[in-house]
Amino acid sequence: MNKTALVTGATQGIGKAIAMRLLHEGWTVVITYAYDPKSDDSQRQFSQVAPNRFFMIEADASDLKSIESINNLLIDNNLKLDAVILNAGITDRAEFGSITPENWEKVFTVNVHYPVFLLQKINPLINSYASITFTGSLMGILPHSVSLSYGVTKASVLALVKNLVKFYAEKGIRVNGVAPGFVDTEWQKNKPQEIRDNITRKIALGRFCSPEELTDVFMLLINNSYMNGEIVVCDGGYSFK
Ligand SMILES: NC(=O)c1ccc[n+]([C@@H]2O[C@H](COP(=O)([O-])OP(=O)(O)OC[C@H]3O[C@@H](n4cnc5c(N)ncnc54)[C@H](OP(=O)(O)O)[C@@H]3O)[C@@H](O)[C@H]2O)c1
Repeated sequence: MNKTALVTGATQGIGKAIAMRLLHEGWTVVITYAYDPKSDDSQRQFSQVAPNRFFMIEADASDLKSIESINNLLIDNNLKLDAVILNAGITDRAEFGSITPENWEKVFTVNVHYPVFLLQKINPLINSYASITFTGSLMGILPHSVSLSYGVTKASVLALVKNLVKFYAEKGIRVNGVAPGFVDTEWQKNKPQEIRDNITRKIALGRFCSPEELTDVFMLLINNSYMNGEIVVCDGGYSFK
C-alpha cells in the first residue's frame, strides 16, 4: 500500500494519535503544526515508526498564507493525497463580555476559514475516491462550555461537512466529521482538576476518551467506502447522563 494523508495540527493530541496510527498502517503522512516547541519529541517518535514516510511542516492555521507552504511541500515531493484530516483547532475561553472581534475572527480563521481555503488550494492534489475528515466537536451540537466562538465554529465545521459533500461527489471523494466529547489531550489536561471532575461525572462511561481510542472512529471514516456526509459523535455517553 502506498497511500498519503495530510493531518493538520498533528504534533500532539488527537492529530498526533491519528498520524501515528496512519504511519503504523503504512501510510505516508504530512503533519502540520503551528509553532510547536515539542516538534523534536514528536519527530523522534514519528521517526521510530516510519523514518522515511512522514513530513512535518510549520503551518499556523491562523495565517492563511501558510496554505502555500503546505501546497508547495506536496508539489515538491510529488505527493497526491488519499486522505485529508482537518484537525487543527483553537478555542477562546473569554467571557461573553470580553470577547474581542480579533479573537472571534482568529477562532473562525483557524477552525473554519483555513480548512476551506486549504481544500480549495490543494484540490488538484486530492485523488479521486479519497476521504476528507474534519475534527468537529460535541460543542457544535450540544453547547457545554464557556467558549462561544468555539461552539459556533464547531457547528460551522459540522455544516461544512454536509455542504462540501456535493462539491466532491464528482470525484467520488467522501467528506465526514468526528464530533468528540472530551479527549484527554493537553487541551483538557490543562484544566483545573475540579473542572475535570465535573466533566467526568457527566460522562456515562465515567472517564475521558483517549486520543488513541478516538483514532478508531477516524480510521472508520477514512477507510469505509460508503460513509459520506456523516458526523460521528464519540462522547462516552456524555449526552445521556
Ligand atoms: N481534546 C478534546 O477534548 C477535544 C474535544 C472535541 C474536539 N477537539 C478538537 O480536536 C482538535 C485537536 O485538539 P487536541 O485536544 O488534540 O489539541 P492539542 O492536544 O492541544 O493539540 C493541538 C495540535 O494542533 C496544533 N495546532 C494548534 N493550533 C494550531 C494552529 N493555529 N495551526 C496549526 N496547528 C495548530 C498544535 O501544534 P502546536 O503545538 O504547534 O500549537 C498541536 O499539534 C481540535 O480541533 C479540537 O477542537 C478536541
